[in-house]
Amino acid sequence: MIRSKYLDSFVSRETSRKLYQYHQCLMNNNQKMSLISKSTEREAYIRHYEDSAQIIEYISNQDENILDIGTGAGLPGIILDLIKVDKKLDFHVNLLEKSPKKCKFLKEAIRLLDLDIKIHNADVSMVRNKNYSVVTARAFKPLGTFLNILHKSNIKFKKLILLKGEKYKNEILDAKKYWEINCELHDSITNKASKVFVINSVKRISA
Ligand SMILES: C[S@@+](CC[C@H](N)C(=O)[O-])C[C@H]1O[C@@H](n2cnc3c(N)ncnc32)[C@H](O)[C@@H]1O
Repeated sequence: MIRSKYLDSFVSRETSRKLYQYHQCLMNNNQKMSLISKSTEREAYIRHYEDSAQIIEYISNQDENILDIGTGAGLPGIILDLIKVDKKLDFHVNLLEKSPKKCKFLKEAIRLLDLDIKIHNADVSMVRNKNYSVVTARAFKPLGTFLNILHKSNIKFKKLILLKGEKYKNEILDAKKYWEINCELHDSITNKASKVFVINSVKRISA
């Protein structure tokens, strides 16, 4: 197992112990269902936990709640909840996932770690009229598709934080055909070719 220098630089012993418990729970369940790609198991601390954790840098103590859409194994939602105490933050995490099997895993992990997280077992396109301080998503949908879903579902946010891979430029260009987007692009700490999008506002400019 390759550990994360970033996480080790600020998490307490207690958080580190909980991260390891989460890791073991994830590894056990990954044998039965595909929560993360098997080829990334050995590097899970960096590829998945550190990658998810870097979002915390863009969350402030004014952010009260987070909705993590298409959370899968709880990435980034569970990781953010685990580390928030080390950054003196106090937000409430909601996880949205359409797969009942993955929700069963989330329930097990949350109980094991004794976390106060709400799970919503639903398809995001069926959700209506919600309002969150922060909406997050990792490895979910292309930006334009995602903005359309949020718009149709009337899911409002103050900040939208997305982890994006190598195709991020095309995603922004495509989305900008239909949306005016106020977006900060930050370098990912786990992959030079990836970015963290911090979107502060969006406005639809064409149908
Ligand atoms: C590629 S996985 C990414 C999971 C996790 N965010 C990560 O970074 O590992 C996408 C997840 O989104 C979920 N998903 C796909 N479409 C969805 C929808 N319409 N509503 C809610 N969840 C959805 C899938 O079941 C899957 O767990």
